[in-house]
Amino acid sequence: MTTTATARTDRTTRSAPSALQLEAVRVTYPDGREADGSPRIATALDSADVAVDRGEFAVVLGPSGSGKSTLLSVAAGLVVPEQGRVLVDGTDLTALGERRRTELRRERIGVVFQQPNLLPALSVADQLLVTGHLGGLRGRRLRAQQERAAELLERVGMAEYARRLPHELSGGQRQRVNIARALFTRPAVLLVDEPTSALDHDRARSIVQLLVGVTRELSVATVMVTHDDEFAADADQVIRLRDGRIMDPQESPVGA
Ligand SMILES: Nc1ncnc2c1ncn2[C@@H]1O[C@H](COP(=O)(O)OP(=O)(O)OP(=O)(O)O)[C@@H](O)[C@H]1O
Ligand SMILES: [Mg+2]
Repeated sequence: MTTTATARTDRTTRSAPSALQLEAVRVTYPDGREADGSPRIATALDSADVAVDRGEFAVVLGPSGSGKSTLLSVAAGLVVPEQGRVLVDGTDLTALGERRRTELRRERIGVVFQQPNLLPALSVADQLLVTGHLGGLRGRRLRAQQERAAELLERVGMAEYARRLPHELSGGQRQRVNIARALFTRPAVLLVDEPTSALDHDRARSIVQLLVGVTRELSVATVMVTHDDEFAADADQVIRLRDGRIMDPQESPVGA
């Protein structure tokens, strides 16, 4: 009986892809010209293999310029890799045309950048609703979306600020709204780039705790980029980058 259960688990594991998978991804950027005038390229990410499951909190660490933001951009479908594949819930982003890729990004991927890019003229609640492309929604369906926005704002501790404008919020509060907005479409994947760099230690900690909490509760695959080694302790998986390559877990990050 044990054998049967194990066999079933193995099969399930094999057939269910991770929510986010990068396979042998390589990203290059043009980088001026060689001495002989030929175009020079810089490799920002090379041979990157990443798999993050729903409910898993992965942290990306590495020095400035090591490729952390590039990894998030390629995972978000904002940058198309020169080589390799990027799969979101099993769909290969690199095989899609521009329009389908944008659609998939809107529906399945939530993104939080370092600077909360909230729309200055919209209230906190409307920041979320505008994400849902609510154009023609009326009646019950509109109310359902409004309820979803209210629930998310409650979850991130911003319910009482729903009518405020972004300039009336602190940096940490704006980042909370940003997180709620990224989760509005029930994404499979949440990509977060240095969400705490503008915050003091305690506020940074509470943002990371919020991210870990929603990762579990909403069963989203979260990848957070940070400079701060301290947050490795909160991670289910730590991805260390150096010069565009993911280091083996055994390699020492110090002085390597
Ligand atoms: N749009 C671009 N055009 C050209 N080169 C780029 C571009 N974006 C990034 N790069 C280069 O790719 C490399 C990786 O950059 P990336 O932004 O991913 O680093 P990072 O680890 O996020 O750094 P930081 O911690 O400073 O944010 C760097 O050498 C950078 O100069
Ligand atoms: Mg960066």
